[in-house]
Amino acid sequence: MATALSPFYDSLCAQLTGLLSDERDWLANTANASALLFMELPDINWAGFYFLRGEELGLGPFQGKPACTRIPVGKGVCGTAVATGQSQLVEDVHEFPGHIACDAVSASEVVVPLYSGEHCLGVLDIDSPTVGRFDEADLAGIEAFARTLLELSDLPTD
Ligand code: SME
Repeated sequence: MATALSPFYDSLCAQLTGLLSDERDWLANTANASALLFMELPDINWAGFYFLRGEELGLGPFQGKPACTRIPVGKGVCGTAVATGQSQLVEDVHEFPGHIACDAVSASEVVVPLYSGEHCLGVLDIDSPTVGRFDEADLAGIEAFARTLLELSDLPTD
C-alpha cells in the first residue's frame, strides 16, 4: 500500500481539487496549479510546467522569474525526467551534470514527468534557493499533486 501523504500535501491536493472543481481546461489548470504551488510551498523560487513538443520541452505556465523557453529532451533536469520517464529529486543542482541554470539562485529542484497513458505531456518543475530543500516526502506529495492535476483536466492529445 502507498504511504500516506503528509498533512501538508494532503491539504495542498485538496486545495487543488477545489480550485479545479469547475474547470477541465489544461492550460487554465496548469496555470492555476503553478500559482497554487508558488503561493503555498515555502522556500521555493520557481514552479511551473514545460510541455513536450517533438524532441524538446517548451515553456508553459509558471510562477517565478522568466525562464529558459526550450529544453532538449535528455538535457538538464527537466530533459532527463522526460528521457528516463522518472521523477528527478536533485539535492544540489550544481552537482547535476548538465543542469540548466535559468535562475542563478536555484539550488535544489524536483521535476515530475506528466503522462497521459503512455504519452508524455511534459514536466512539472519546482526550484528552491536552498540546497536539500526537497526530500522523499516532498517528492511523493508533488507526484500526488501532479496526479490530481492530470485526473481533473482534459489532457491534450497532440
Ligand atoms: N533547471 C532546469 C531548467 C528549468 S528551470 O529550473 C525553470 C533544468 O535543468 O532542466
